[in-house]
Amino acid sequence: MSSPQILDGKLVAAAVLDECRAETAALQALGVTPGLAVVLVGDDPASKVYVGSKVRTCAELGFHSRKIELPAETTQEQLLEVVRDLNADPAIHGILVQSPPPKHIDEEAIVRALDPCKDVDGFHPENVAKLVLEDPTGFVPCTPAGCMKLLETSGIETSGAEAVVIGRSMIVGKPMAMLLVAKNSNATVTIAHSRSKDLPAICRRADILIAAVGRPEMVKADWVKPGAVVIDVGINRVTDESKKSGYRLTGDVAFEEVAPNCSAITPVPGGVGPMTIAMLMKNTLQAARQLSG
Ligand code: GUN
Repeated sequence: MSSPQILDGKLVAAAVLDECRAETAALQALGVTPGLAVVLVGDDPASKVYVGSKVRTCAELGFHSRKIELPAETTQEQLLEVVRDLNADPAIHGILVQSPPPKHIDEEAIVRALDPCKDVDGFHPENVAKLVLEDPTGFVPCTPAGCMKLLETSGIETSGAEAVVIGRSMIVGKPMAMLLVAKNSNATVTIAHSRSKDLPAICRRADILIAAVGRPEMVKADWVKPGAVVIDVGINRVTDESKKSGYRLTGDVAFEEVAPNCSAITPVPGGVGPMTIAMLMKNTLQAARQLSG
């Protein structure tokens, strides 16, 4: 088989960010500066990296941003208080509480406390409902939105395609399936997960395979139908003594063995990751527009 198309998330994300830059300037001309607050509880190293990139991208676009770093011992009530303050802050249009929080935090209660109009992650039940209803005033979770954008800009036909999503998380798997089955996409969707029987056989049915399980290199060559499109959402840190950091990043897909067999594939890093941040910026602009308009 000829070599696959490498779906370059960095390139597509840069184009999305260019659009965002133009829209930011237009909003600023109306006296509105988009504002994003990112809240990090505890000191998970990967979360720190993600939060840093989000805040840096805000600065690049001319957004106002606030990074709120709280100690791991922060109580549920203290975190709720932070969320309530941000809900009431007119300079803030988007609020993101980085997941996962420490174990003692009830994440669902925190999400429910967010003003749904500022929930740029799209995790609040009101936004989940709007996703199911295909109501464009809702916020679509950034990672699955980024995967859809990547498919769209790469000219990959979803209509009538057999799509398999591995993973049923509220952050990726479930919203991803909803987006693929929506009327503007028209895929036939299967959601598979850790209890699915004969996962490789289910995956082999896919014209479009989305891996979002968080298990390094779980998807092997014989799980993928020849010519399929593979979107790898996993960003896993695995030990690698040859690296200065002591680790390397790898996806949920065994890229080296899978790539030759498929028509298009995302790399890790440089695939879905940059798209997530770009879609967060897009969502924050949408929030600023809707809150000020
Ligand atoms: N952790 C991993 N992905 C995400 C995301 O999209 N949003 C938040 N808040 N936390 C995450």
